[in-house]
Amino acid sequence: MANGNALLDARDVTIRFGGLTAVSHFNLTIQPHELVGLIGPNGAGKTTVFNMLTGVYKPTEGEIHVGGVSTHEFKPYQITALGVARTFQNIRLFKELSVLDNVKIGGHIHYKYSGTSAVLHTNRFHKAEEVAEKDAFDLLKIFGLESRADYYAKNLPYGDQRRLEIARALAARPKLLLLDEPAAGLNDRETLDLMETIHEIRDKFDIAILLIEHNMELVMGICERIIVLSFGKTIAQGTPEEVRANPVVIEAYLGEPAEAAGV
Ligand SMILES: Nc1ncnc2c1ncn2[C@@H]1O[C@H](COP(=O)(O)OP(=O)(O)OP(=O)(O)O)[C@@H](O)[C@H]1O
Ligand SMILES: [Mg+2]
Repeated sequence: MANGNALLDARDVTIRFGGLTAVSHFNLTIQPHELVGLIGPNGAGKTTVFNMLTGVYKPTEGEIHVGGVSTHEFKPYQITALGVARTFQNIRLFKELSVLDNVKIGGHIHYKYSGTSAVLHTNRFHKAEEVAEKDAFDLLKIFGLESRADYYAKNLPYGDQRRLEIARALAARPKLLLLDEPAAGLNDRETLDLMETIHEIRDKFDIAILLIEHNMELVMGICERIIVLSFGKTIAQGTPEEVRANPVVIEAYLGEPAEAAGV
């Protein structure tokens, strides 16, 4: 049985690639408006969890429910329609399209017009286009990107591309936003700003966020609850204070550079 009110309920989820168990007996329940961190050393299985939650991979065992609906037979776009959007560890933008168009594409599932009206450019199509454009501009403003709306995405500085990816994911109007190392490659200042923005968008859009981040200190600064993966297993979970004090967590991070682990 799924947990009725939960936005996300992953029960005993395992995935194997050949002989490798990438994620083992993973459990996670997320309620609306929660900001949850998912941390762990390289190769721990964090991105694989995202890939299962978004339907890129099917779990070998276990069940995932979004809003009480089993996603087992769902394709990624159907899971997006249930309210789950994500960003990628390696930025995936339409590099040859404008910044504005990248965000509009993120929202396309919400602007209904038939193929015929699109081809004929009917009033209905123009109206939907206008709304899509305004919504996309509003999102760009939140990320300080509105003055660059016409740039090719590929010409944005790296940090702006990361923020554009989040804007694009938000255009799908998710209830749950999955962010896979959104601060990767950013400098300290940009990272702190981004963490603040993540906190703000959670409140502004009243969404839940699951955040993968390598730097423990950062994730602890904004998340209410943290799950720690190591070699596919959940080795700890709890409040930032509980996780920080957990010797098993400290040990799992010992192989990491001290400043990345933040311990
Ligand atoms: N499609 C796949 N086929 C085979 N093995 C895979 C596949 N996807 C992931 N893996 C393996 O699963 C394990 C977990 O990888 P994953 O990318 O989820 O780790 P991660 O925690 O996101 O690491 P990082 O911090 O480096 O991003 C790794 O050993 C990886 O090689
Ligand atoms: Mg990863």
